[in-house]
Amino acid sequence: KLSSASVDERLMNICKLLEEHISHYNWVGFYFKNGNKNELKLGPYVGEPTDHTIIPFGKGICGQVAVSNENFVVPDVAAQDNYIACSITVKAEIVIPIFKNGKNIGQIDIDSNTPDPFTEDDERFLEFVCEKVSRMIS
Ligand code: SME
Repeated sequence: KLSSASVDERLMNICKLLEEHISHYNWVGFYFKNGNKNELKLGPYVGEPTDHTIIPFGKGICGQVAVSNENFVVPDVAAQDNYIACSITVKAEIVIPIFKNGKNIGQIDIDSNTPDPFTEDDERFLEFVCEKVSRMIS
């Protein structure tokens, strides 16, 4: 077969794999910069549907990562004031930026229903995933 999965299909497969196989990953999705606007747009995701399909730069954990260019590990979402709640079951969140040619083009966002579940291993692993994603994207 000559056809290959589209980028969105491949991103969706990554979300499914991560959510199914890592028990503390309960919502897994990608946000990408929306054209030349200073906002993020939701891409493929697995988990509860969210109202937050557009997030302005600076808003919430995701919006902060869009401007800081740094990993953001949140052990307890209740302790954050710049946080956008998607579901009351979420206890913790991790957001890792995706860089293409040195530019922050998006991020992987993971919510956990377990308090304080993310370690440096998650950061290193998700940085690796984000590098692979960057190479998939033209
Ligand atoms: N909690 C995020 C919003 C996205 S949802 O988790 C899917 C934030 O504060 O940016």
